Amino acid sequence: MTTPVTTWHRLAGTAVLLDGFHALKHAVRFGAEIPVAVATDREATLALADELAPDVRDRLSTLLTEVPEETYRALVPRPHPTAVAALAVRPSRAANLERLAARPRPTPVVLLDHPRNLGNAGAVIRLAAGFGATGVITTGTLDPWHPTVVRGGAGLHFATAVERLTPEELPSGPLFALDPEGDDIRDVKLPDDAVLAFGSERSGLSPEVRERADHLLALPMRPQVSSYNLATSVGMTLYHWSAFRGS
Ligand SMILES: C[S@@+](CC[C@H](N)C(=O)[O-])C[C@H]1O[C@@H](n2cnc3c(N)ncnc32)[C@H](O)[C@@H]1O
Repeated sequence: MTTPVTTWHRLAGTAVLLDGFHALKHAVRFGAEIPVAVATDREATLALADELAPDVRDRLSTLLTEVPEETYRALVPRPHPTAVAALAVRPSRAANLERLAARPRPTPVVLLDHPRNLGNAGAVIRLAAGFGATGVITTGTLDPWHPTVVRGGAGLHFATAVERLTPEELPSGPLFALDPEGDDIRDVKLPDDAVLAFGSERSGLSPEVRERADHLLALPMRPQVSSYNLATSVGMTLYHWSAFRGS
């Protein structure tokens, strides 16, 4: 007999874990395919939806199965305070690559050049989703769909195209690389089809991305401060793009 628990075990190796109410809510809003969702208190979860996200309440009512607390704890690596979890189907790489390559591109792509910190990558995906960026590309070894990144992204991997690529596969478009040694970003209007590149937390931009860059831009920073945090830099740059959009 197929139960939510057997479905969970069948899919857990390949699906994306949505950890907690907010991740599930975002994934639902942005059209994720969700084969299984569990909660230890279905009524309490639906009451939370009534309060915080009435737009997804009906969909959650269809998706959620109540399971005992021990069952929930056995399904997830780390219980979430909302005691809600779900598995989503990862969007196809082909579809994401198509979105990233499509021209004209309506909003920028964020490129994280060899990022190292999973929390930073999640925060960047959340920012990119919030600003309506076309996607987030990573190069290097970090998997942008790692469970810790997905947790940091609060289910917003489904709101923007997230893929790991090699430097040779980067989408076309003007490449603006962010570096403290660049020209002042405040003098530049970032185009909607920009690729906005950010270096690794430890060593900054790679030689390949530096070479490919059409412009090197700096965020305002007082002397004696070496650099900003990676995700913070992405936030400021996307804000700068959005603030001058259409001006
Ligand atoms: C933590 S910093 C990297 C610091 C690294 N030690 C270095 O050598 O550049 C991560 C990335 O954030 C961006 N960044 C940080 N501060 C910046 C600033 N003031 N202007 C432009 N980009 C900045 C850059 O893309 C940088 O590569």
